[in-house]
Amino acid sequence: MTKAFYVTTPIYYVNDAPHIGHAYTTVAGDVLTRWRRQRQESVFYLTGTDEHGTKVERTARENGVEPQVWCDRLVEEAWKPVLQTIDAANDDFLRTTSERHRLGVQKFWQTLQDNGHVYEADFEGPYCVGCEEFKRPGDLVDGKCPIHDRPVEMLHETNYFFRLAQFSDALLEHYERHPQAVEPRSAYNEVVSFIKGGLEDISMSRSSVGWGIPLPWDDKQVVYVWFDALLNYITAIGYGTDAPEFDQIWPADVQLVGKDILRFHAVYWPAMLMAAGLPLPEKVFAHGWLLVGGEKMSKSKLTGISPDQIVDDFGSDAFRYYFLRAIQFGQDGSFSWEDMAARYTAELANGLGNLASRATAMVVRYRGGVLPGPGDYANADLALQELLAACAERADAAMLQLDFSTGILAIKDFVDAVNVYVTEQEPWVLAKDPASAERLDTVLYTICESLRAIAVLYHPVMPKSTAKIWESLGQQAELAEQPVQDVGRWGQLRSGSHVVKGESLFPRLETP
Ligand code: MSP
Repeated sequence: MTKAFYVTTPIYYVNDAPHIGHAYTTVAGDVLTRWRRQRQESVFYLTGTDEHGTKVERTARENGVEPQVWCDRLVEEAWKPVLQTIDAANDDFLRTTSERHRLGVQKFWQTLQDNGHVYEADFEGPYCVGCEEFKRPGDLVDGKCPIHDRPVEMLHETNYFFRLAQFSDALLEHYERHPQAVEPRSAYNEVVSFIKGGLEDISMSRSSVGWGIPLPWDDKQVVYVWFDALLNYITAIGYGTDAPEFDQIWPADVQLVGKDILRFHAVYWPAMLMAAGLPLPEKVFAHGWLLVGGEKMSKSKLTGISPDQIVDDFGSDAFRYYFLRAIQFGQDGSFSWEDMAARYTAELANGLGNLASRATAMVVRYRGGVLPGPGDYANADLALQELLAACAERADAAMLQLDFSTGILAIKDFVDAVNVYVTEQEPWVLAKDPASAERLDTVLYTICESLRAIAVLYHPVMPKSTAKIWESLGQQAELAEQPVQDVGRWGQLRSGSHVVKGESLFPRLETP
């Protein structure tokens, strides 16, 4: 069996409900997953929740409940439902409080302990509960964590250390040989310079924290929350519980992370894997932050917007489209309702939605809903066919490189060209002249065949509205099974297909 293409998101802390920053990562992974599936690749897409550690435990207790009760409630009422809200097609959802995860984590650390990668020592230093991270003095600004803008806590405890420092050379060599293993380039450079700056051994357990997975050899300590959470990527696919499944899926092909957690994923995580003798992920991609007022959007700073707030007004397809279209993946981006509304109206309602409704309405009006076959193609028709092939190729190359905005733009260029074609060919004028009947057939066919291709290309980005387009074109085959590599082959719609005028895909926004 061929290996599945394995895509992961970070697992999200359940100290609070999701905001659009979390949904952003999940949507990106989902579009990549659906794109590759549309290329007929087998893909395994994982997401989940990070439930242990001080941050979650304190939040639960502040709310007067036991941590497990808190986690169960948040996961069921907020984190799993958001996947429906944004239409995520994940294969699994890993909770770090699950039995399969505990077994895998304990097996992993027992192996490292047995092989001499772990030793007991005293730890003293600053810790940011917001990041759940041991900080170095150089990481702080005015004694505070710059990400959370809150004072750090001073820890002094005896715990177990992971021998991270001994992997410095192996990590540098790995990154030298695999420059694509961390992207974008700025993230790669940051990782390499961090390693060159010198790695120190790091605590892998906590003795003053109770909410976590007990160490298999010392049940008075729990695994440090990051060294528990990172293992989700392997425990979800059977590490420690199902070896054949694990071999079928590991290593990960794309691990998406926000840039704030790059060090964990591109330094600590590969070192852990090396220590366990496991293969390293092909790529960690660090995307930027959604900003509000120039700062990272966050619930703790009360700048979090819930995905529901946007999806209720614009729909899940527009949500998915907007964030990947408007922000270059890898860069920070500011969210504003005005920009969202402007693009929704221009690109989705007036662009794609209008094309779909005009095309199908004309076949209904002029040909009684029966798709005509084309006559001889004129230059304008042939130019559109060529443009489709070129745009599809551009889109495919960009999507595979996680350059979602370029990929979407390539498809949008084609949509715009088809709209121009409709305006220039004036089918409504041709319809008035019986002598132009064959030309009208060709124009209607060209528009609908273009729409077929658009539905296929946009399906990974906007699964719901493209399914509606597909249906209104009278297509019965599964849209998700139309190979993206074949989308530019002209003439796939069969004449005689039954076309109906679909409902409005992107209804006009109500003005307040
Ligand atoms: N639990 C850890 C990750 C463990 S992975 C083994 C964690 N959780 S988190 O909930 O704080 O954030 C997880 C991810 O959510 C970030 O890495 C990022 O992908 C996404 N985002 C959270 N806030 C975001 C923005 N404001 N903007 C963009 N993405 C954001 O860190």
